[in-house]
Amino acid sequence: MADSTDRLRELAKIIYSLPKDQRRWLSELLQEYGVAPSEARQLTLGLGDEYEVPRGREHARGKYHPNNRLNDLSGNEWVYFTKTVLRTSYPSELGHDLRRQHYANKPPALMRQIIEFFTKRGQTVLDPFAGVGGTLLGASLCGRKAVGIELEQRWLDIYHEVCRREQIEPQETICGDCLEVMPRLVEEGRLFDAIITDPPYSPALEKTMCDGKYGWSNRNSPFVSFSSSPHDLRNSTTFDEFYDKMEEVGRWFLRLLRPGQYAVVMIRDSYQNGEYIPASFYIAERFRKIGFQFKGVKIWYQTGAPVRPYGYPYAFVPNIVHHNILIFRKPKQK
Ligand SMILES: C[S@@+](CC[C@H](N)C(=O)[O-])C[C@H]1O[C@@H](n2cnc3c(N)ncnc32)[C@H](O)[C@@H]1O
Repeated sequence: MADSTDRLRELAKIIYSLPKDQRRWLSELLQEYGVAPSEARQLTLGLGDEYEVPRGREHARGKYHPNNRLNDLSGNEWVYFTKTVLRTSYPSELGHDLRRQHYANKPPALMRQIIEFFTKRGQTVLDPFAGVGGTLLGASLCGRKAVGIELEQRWLDIYHEVCRREQIEPQETICGDCLEVMPRLVEEGRLFDAIITDPPYSPALEKTMCDGKYGWSNRNSPFVSFSSSPHDLRNSTTFDEFYDKMEEVGRWFLRLLRPGQYAVVMIRDSYQNGEYIPASFYIAERFRKIGFQFKGVKIWYQTGAPVRPYGYPYAFVPNIVHHNILIFRKPKQK
């Protein structure tokens, strides 16, 4: 497994070292062999590069529908995104060496793909659990504006450091509890074209997986990471308290989102005390009850996630190697 991952990394390095016109050619070749345009471009062109369709090859991107009010994608790209499984691996880029201090940073390239589907160029995204800025960077990569709220200043400091180093104009950031900041945004009359976020996934679990057998060493990031703030949703004392707070978060989303637009919430399910906890679906149900339409889920399969012999050889225990990307729509006003 590690072997094939290393070989893929080597291959990626070779592709990225090719001149841009050759990478473009490779991208087109992949598309001719059936790889979706957005994926082909991402694999070959690098994620910060704007793809210009070469003259005479406009058909490679597919047609853009004049009635498309949601995004700037062609028909091919739109349909490709609607597949329910995402199994792309993302490169460690845009200051990942700094961002990895955060226990749950997300690849800006993944966030870019989501943002590109749910907004048009120039529109504004809200991320009320911004961390070290996966969504904010993703928005910058595709010419969107973003507002990030984050409880802990140290994560925003890392985001700003990354922006300085990568020469990216920082997006608007607000340090605070999103349950206090979002009401202020409502009072100011602000409205967003999409809310795309990755909240804490559950109350803090003291032990990971098999009763602490693999403990903290089972983690990839340095775990000085967690805050002790009572405002941190992760410090809810029970799952029910956590779901209640997420419901409150959802109510503010309804007030901050333009009618007909989307809220996308990434949640990783958990396993605790011998049982699977489908937190994502409990949250989906809460959001549905308060007035969102639950439109679907995309499963992000983290191809490089380590697997452990939990439960072996006595009982089935899952290796959770995916996140659920929950997609909600605020109904259009009648
Ligand atoms: C899963 S992480 C988000 C990671 C982010 N997507 C990134 O790429 O860095 C969740 C974040 O929510 C923050 N958080 C928790 N409770 C919060 C609250 N009430 N208001 C604002 N941020 C909060 C945590 O500090 C943490 O950084």
